[in-house]
Amino acid sequence: MKKKKKILLFCDPGIDDSLAIMYALLHPHLEVVGIVSSYGNVAQEQATNNVAYLLHLAGREDVPVIGGAKGPLSGEFTVFYPEIHGPEGLGPISPPDIIVGELLNFDRIFEIIERYEGELTIVEVGRQTALAIAYILGEEHMGKVKDFFIMGGAFLVPGNVTPVAEANFHGDPIAANLILNKAKNVTVVPLNVTSDAIVTKEMVDYITAYEYNPFTPLIKPIFDYYADAYSELIPGLNGAPLHDVVTLAALTQPQLVNYIHRSVTVQILERTRGQSVGDFRPGWEAEPSEVLHRIGMVLDFEMFFRDFLNVMTRSLHDQ
Ligand code: BDR
Ligand code: CA
Repeated sequence: MKKKKKILLFCDPGIDDSLAIMYALLHPHLEVVGIVSSYGNVAQEQATNNVAYLLHLAGREDVPVIGGAKGPLSGEFTVFYPEIHGPEGLGPISPPDIIVGELLNFDRIFEIIERYEGELTIVEVGRQTALAIAYILGEEHMGKVKDFFIMGGAFLVPGNVTPVAEANFHGDPIAANLILNKAKNVTVVPLNVTSDAIVTKEMVDYITAYEYNPFTPLIKPIFDYYADAYSELIPGLNGAPLHDVVTLAALTQPQLVNYIHRSVTVQILERTRGQSVGDFRPGWEAEPSEVLHRIGMVLDFEMFFRDFLNVMTRSLHDQ
């Protein structure tokens, strides 16, 4: 049997984050060994409650939940996105107040890294603040992470929160830069890839036609809310992009995304805040390998389509 990839997921659920959690728990080749929940699409307390609710539905209260950041490193006020993700992050659904069995101390992140030394992938699909804090508090542990998959940035396409910036990098550009500067083996899955991971209402009808798993009843109402929000944002768009799901899908399928290697930095100030920068000029002079990041450029949509339908129609018992 194929060995499962162990992942520690940093997220801010949020609709596409919630679908990413479901995808990860259903995926036969992924083992979720912890979830860090932070502010971003909603406040940190709400994000944590949403994580707890999804784990409870799956009967996976054994997955450690660690409370992440409540705001960016700059100390600025955070803007949430209820119009896209719903007032509580799950579209029209108001999750019950699930008490997280034990909301674990931040140090648990380092225990997880030590326990799975050399085989752990950190997947970051929210603002990067908590991950940056992990570097600040425990850099000696961070080198033991195998690799990082980060949803953020936008290359050669417009942003989604400003004309140049994508939401995760814009939310905490200081944190994003810190990670890009310090982390090794980083794959960046940016908006130019994730915006093509469009799921339609027809695809959702297919994956909810039968109650395949405990998440099925939630998927249609939360997705419809998200797709309706997108149809107002981008008139004519049939469906909505699952940015965070495709980041996990890229981890499980090496051929899903086509990559190039460049050194990425993030702009911090004023009008260009959150803009991801890499040298894309034709005469690009090779940069030293230690500063390079693997940047997603193009998505194989057909492969995403098949994989998404396949994973979301699995039972939790098919693992
Ligand atoms: C990213 O921003 C968030 O709102 C989404 O959950 C995703 O992680 C897309 O820009
Ligand atoms: Ca997210």
